[in-house]
Amino acid sequence: MSHHFPTHPIPDGFADAHIKPADYEAMYERSITDRDGFFADMATEFLTWDKPWDAVCSFDFVKGEASWFAGGKLNVSVNCIDRHLPERAEQTAIIWEGDDPKDSRAISYTELKDEVCRLANALRARGVGKGDRVCLYMPMVPEAAIAMLACTRIGAVHTIVFGGFSPEALKDRIQSAECTAVITSDEGLRGGKAVPLKANVDKSLTDCPSVTTCIVVRRTDAEVNMLDGRDVYYDEITATQSTDCEPESMDSEDPLFILYTSGSTGKPKGVLHTTAGYLLQASMSFKYVFDYREGEVYWCTADVGWVTGHSYIVYGPLAVGATTLMFEGVPTYPDAGRCWDVVDKHQVSTFYTAPTAIRALQGKGDSFVTRSSRSSLRILGTVGEPINPEAWEWYFHTVGEGRCPIVDTWWQTETGAHMITPLPGATNMKPGAASMPFFGVEPVLLAEDGSEIEGAGAGYLAIKSSWPSQIRSVYGDHQRMVDTYFSNYPGYYFTGDGATRDEDGYYWITGRVDDVLNVSGHRMGTAEVESAVVLHDSIAEAAVVGFPHDIKGQGIYCYVTPMEGVEPNDALKAELVQLCVEEIGPIAKPDVIQWAPGLPKTRSGKIMRRLLRKIAENELDSLGDTSTLADPGVVDELISNRNA
Ligand code: WT7
Repeated sequence: MSHHFPTHPIPDGFADAHIKPADYEAMYERSITDRDGFFADMATEFLTWDKPWDAVCSFDFVKGEASWFAGGKLNVSVNCIDRHLPERAEQTAIIWEGDDPKDSRAISYTELKDEVCRLANALRARGVGKGDRVCLYMPMVPEAAIAMLACTRIGAVHTIVFGGFSPEALKDRIQSAECTAVITSDEGLRGGKAVPLKANVDKSLTDCPSVTTCIVVRRTDAEVNMLDGRDVYYDEITATQSTDCEPESMDSEDPLFILYTSGSTGKPKGVLHTTAGYLLQASMSFKYVFDYREGEVYWCTADVGWVTGHSYIVYGPLAVGATTLMFEGVPTYPDAGRCWDVVDKHQVSTFYTAPTAIRALQGKGDSFVTRSSRSSLRILGTVGEPINPEAWEWYFHTVGEGRCPIVDTWWQTETGAHMITPLPGATNMKPGAASMPFFGVEPVLLAEDGSEIEGAGAGYLAIKSSWPSQIRSVYGDHQRMVDTYFSNYPGYYFTGDGATRDEDGYYWITGRVDDVLNVSGHRMGTAEVESAVVLHDSIAEAAVVGFPHDIKGQGIYCYVTPMEGVEPNDALKAELVQLCVEEIGPIAKPDVIQWAPGLPKTRSGKIMRRLLRKIAENELDSLGDTSTLADPGVVDELISNRNA
């Protein structure tokens, strides 16, 4: 808890925010004590239904079960598009800002409807229907959002794979979700560099017999391989389709999307979200957490390949009828002032990004910020990892000139939408604190023995009752969901994060307590990186831990034991880095590889990561008891190698 940084009061100009301090108290209270009544009102206000629900909520956290709005029927694309047309036909739904500052496009709600219907019809024509899985491997172009919505139009389930993932990682996900179609692009464009998306898809699909259709959006017009019968160009198959498409009326609990995310063990899990509860919490949180006003331009810098892009570029904003900005490029291209130039160019009101980007831009100096006006900005947001108070203060004072509340939103792929966050007009801000629970969310701090900690204290962050957008299953392995989230502490959803709660009831997230890394806001299992490294014939064993990194938040530190007789050298290191890139993607490049003739293990053979973390952090004074190690000499060796 950073008591050196003073609490900031709500800035002027938020007296008429959607949620004022007294509203927050009353609504939060009701959301817990009269859950069904509260969420029935919200579901009526926020969503348009084909058929009302029979029951609002039922759940059993011992079994890991949850159901919201059972018996209700609705369609997500209708909620995000059609129902807005009477009042917003000509309003811009999506502003696209290309990688090149000269490229931008505005797509109205009418145009969005036409495009979504065309693609939905084309998908249907190729045999894709309700319940089928469609993989999206896309750059940040409007067609990515159009493809998501087209899937929802016909009840197909999308699974988006971030364009930075390797062909190998893409293949694993397509196979795991048994996708029948893939939507991609010839190439992506980021920071002036082309990304060979279609070529990557080709590599993956050699091993994915379930895929019978691959739709290719032309972005750079690069020459790509097109397999006859399977591969078709987006513009060609959509050109002849009608701009009307009968929406599939979905059950509230029908699957909406699958999104793969890393855990502490094994391959990434396909987190399954369903229709009504997800859309409700995405839209409610969008409106209240960003205090969204009619006509404002809202910008979230995430990629649609992450959950933030799903909930806060596409579904939340469009369900509320907002104008959402989609950015193809990177914050430092052509230079570190790009974000603020874009804010001025499109008169952005709300800017939502990750702490890693804030720290990187802070490091480039204030002049990139101050050359812009930023007078349109009203609210700033952060997500993805804890924000250090120094970066928070810079964001608040230099970017926001002290006028804009910062919402530090804590949530996860599994939670689907914001869970703990300040509200701009309701919460005094403490730099670095995710602050207060959103409506319907009951966080608790658990001690090691599973008892709830009362008042101020520290513990494992868990959630005590269901919320509408919670994970419903791990695709293809429901038991894995129960084991991962509902078994450590029966009756609770276990987040994997540690947190403290201060005397004012504010939550401060301290980071993962499991073997999950958070590198530049990207989630990665230590086990995934280890598996990649040990694929090399010369490597016997590897152990991966995180260490504090000034910009990335966490860096990747690999301890690697070569095979007997192998001479470790820099060329071998380079090969290991390359393996991580091939197996996972560039985000998994190790920052440090340290040769480890041996790894510290208990007598039962378990690697003591706690020690490895301390050595990586260079905290050699607090190694603690090493006497239980099978070979205590290993530690001294690692320490002297570290400094070598
Ligand atoms: C993990 C979830 C939620 C969308 C992006 C990441 C960390 C997320 C915060 C925050 C501190 C945060 C947690 C969480 N995290 N937001 N505001 N403060 N930590 O989603 O990839 O599922 O990662 O990100 O450790 O468990 P994700």
